[in-house]
Amino acid sequence: MEKWWERDDLTYKDGQLLFAGRVVEDLARQFGSPSFFYSADRISANIGRLHAALSDAGFGGGLHGVNYAMKANRFAPLLTYLKTTGLCTIDACSPQEVEHAISCGFSPEEISFTATSLSNRDFERLSRLDGLIMNCDSLYAIRQWGERGAGRNIGIRINPAVGIGRAQNELLQYSGGRTTKFGIYREQFHEAVDLAAQFGLTVERIHFHTGCGYLTPQLAVWEKVVEECLWFIDQVDTVRTVNVGGGLGVPHIFRDEPLDLELWAGILRKYFLPRNIRVEVEPGDYLVKDAGLLVLTVNAIEKKKDTIFVGVDAGFNLAVEPAVYGLPFQPVPARRRQGDEVQVTVVGNINEALDVWSSEVSLTPLVSADYLTLINAGAYSSSMSSNHCMRGEFREFLLL
Ligand SMILES: Cc1ncc(COP(=O)(O)O)c(C=O)c1O
Repeated sequence: MEKWWERDDLTYKDGQLLFAGRVVEDLARQFGSPSFFYSADRISANIGRLHAALSDAGFGGGLHGVNYAMKANRFAPLLTYLKTTGLCTIDACSPQEVEHAISCGFSPEEISFTATSLSNRDFERLSRLDGLIMNCDSLYAIRQWGERGAGRNIGIRINPAVGIGRAQNELLQYSGGRTTKFGIYREQFHEAVDLAAQFGLTVERIHFHTGCGYLTPQLAVWEKVVEECLWFIDQVDTVRTVNVGGGLGVPHIFRDEPLDLELWAGILRKYFLPRNIRVEVEPGDYLVKDAGLLVLTVNAIEKKKDTIFVGVDAGFNLAVEPAVYGLPFQPVPARRRQGDEVQVTVVGNINEALDVWSSEVSLTPLVSADYLTLINAGAYSSSMSSNHCMRGEFREFLLL
């Protein structure tokens, strides 16, 4: 494999980019652009790898579970596919997501719910669903949930005051340096447990999600997060499960190494196995990000001062992570033309200064009407897209 991102199901053959057994240029010619393509096999492989790592670490049998964070990608065929594989359940963060997951085949008992700032109406809507797995993130949520159904089991989302994120990017951290809205801090935890008891709610689970996109260099911080979590677990003798959130990252650029899952799971083993605690994980990125491509068409190619701009037919509003979180995208030409690589800046079709897909990236020569692919577009792209400048149109395809 020549490029850092190439793998068996995403590689060049005879100058053509292949993905999930298809020629990307053929897909683009037939179905147009902008289009997202998702590989079902890659998603299953990603989930399988995670299951294997947890089982190998000692969390075999019923001792672990994987909830897919559907906020990453809620494309209905993808959710129904996941249901049919039986490989995972769901993590949802709004009543609308819960109902969408149910419409795609999941039952309420297969949905773990963790959200923030819910309204009365949200709680009413959720409390009608028998078996929904609820994680409360505040005293307010415990009260609201307790008032609508005493005697249920709940999880408490905690805030361990340590954050983690790709390259320690603060924008990706849900706890840590600054005080955040997510979860209950140590200072209020006993109050939370007492409140749950008042409503006859049994706290059977501790939940945390402290940040996104972490890779192997961040595993020392991961260990700190896990260590902090133990204090909370040890306060409540009814806790049987820990939900360690999502946040497992995938490489975005050539310098990134894939997350070492064995080391990751080894940290969970060290702290949770001796306590006989079941581990749940709820990744979005790790399961679907590298299983998706965004295929675009090249419009204008023009040198302005010292920069060659490659303008494509979609902008940052279809995949906001580079603009919002500074997460780089790797552009890959669907056809590898002969010739030396050229340094270009890939930009979209939106009148905003931040509409830059990739700055100063070296690509094989491109001409107008070529197709250009953005890899790693399977998560937080279509699901976060907007109709800004009325440029919100795209198509999605699940490749089985
Ligand atoms: C509570 C919770 N769980 C899971 C996730 C999934 O995160 P990721 O896609 O980084 O794995 C998120 C994402 O923000 C989240 O807020």
